[in-house]
Amino acid sequence: MRVLVLHSDVAPDAPPDEQDTLVAADAVADALASRGHRASLSPFVFDLETLRSVIAEYRPDVVFNMVEAIFRHCELAAIVPTLLEKLNVPYTGCPSAPMAMAGDKPLAKKFLRLAGLPTPDWDEVPYNNTAHDVRYVVKSATEDASLGLDGGAVVTGRDAVLQRAGSSHRKHGGRWFVEAYIEGREFNISVLEENGEPRVLPIPEMVFHNWDANRPRIVGYDAKWSEASPEYNQTIRQFRSEAEEPALYRKLTELSTVAWRLFRLKGFARVDFRVSEAGEPFILEINPNPCLEPGSGFAAAAEAAGMDYAEAIERILAAALATR
Ligand SMILES: Nc1ncnc2c1ncn2[C@@H]1O[C@H](COP(=O)(O)OP(=O)(O)OP(=O)(O)O)[C@@H](O)[C@H]1O
Ligand SMILES: [Mg+2]
Repeated sequence: MRVLVLHSDVAPDAPPDEQDTLVAADAVADALASRGHRASLSPFVFDLETLRSVIAEYRPDVVFNMVEAIFRHCELAAIVPTLLEKLNVPYTGCPSAPMAMAGDKPLAKKFLRLAGLPTPDWDEVPYNNTAHDVRYVVKSATEDASLGLDGGAVVTGRDAVLQRAGSSHRKHGGRWFVEAYIEGREFNISVLEENGEPRVLPIPEMVFHNWDANRPRIVGYDAKWSEASPEYNQTIRQFRSEAEEPALYRKLTELSTVAWRLFRLKGFARVDFRVSEAGEPFILEINPNPCLEPGSGFAAAAEAAGMDYAEAIERILAAALATR
């Protein structure tokens, strides 16, 4: 099969969270080639005629959509599936509308809340409902990869929220919202479409190993991207036996499946959870088309399910072709 791996147009001097897209795109192209496909790589250029000519040149049977950002903005990536639909090319992963909806975190949370799914309390500009005695995380409404998330993002009370949200806005631009900080455990649930249905892959916990008692337990920017940092080295993904905590794993599986159907996700996704000290799970966010880099949570979950990397990639491709 002819597969065009379409990826974000990343500048050579871009930070590691953006370079990661290229690493993932190369790995996906290699995996496809190893399965006998004719895989080509192309950066996405924000221009319909350019895209049309790229498609005309490569004549792909399917596009493997790995465009995570346009002009470095994640929320713009949601137009890519629509453009591919207009050009009548099948593509992997999620369509535009659910991607845009999940990509706007406060909007997604509102949707989760209305559907009765648990997500932490939150507030937005002008933060009038932000309490004085609650601990919050100040987060970007639309960016991912833990952009702007470090220990200083966890603050208590409205005054501290205003200060942090103001400085994050000045530094990174865009909208910033606050979410009640959930002390407790963290789980990332990868879901893969099989025969049109969501299949929850083995569930890893992100374990904060030997963390200082005072340091907020969050998977911030350094934990994801700064390989020399203590945060990176002390955040460890661990797959345990589901038999150890069957009720919790059942609940996480059920909530991820309901979220998949609610948002009408496609192909593959990752749902990020915190579980409070009382054992109550909260959905932090839904990631359509999550990172596919070989060391990513999705790749690790596929491997724990007994799939090698190339097989997981092949299944994402199969899901794109089965339903379009
Ligand atoms: N309400 C919260 N309570 C506790 N920790 C939180 C909360 N919100 C975010 N975090 C921490 O910050 C991390 C990043 O948050 P989140 O997953 O919402 O953002 P992201 O930047 O979109 O991440 P991703 O790279 O998964 O797309 C979480 O994995 C978690 O460790
Ligand atoms: Mg996340």
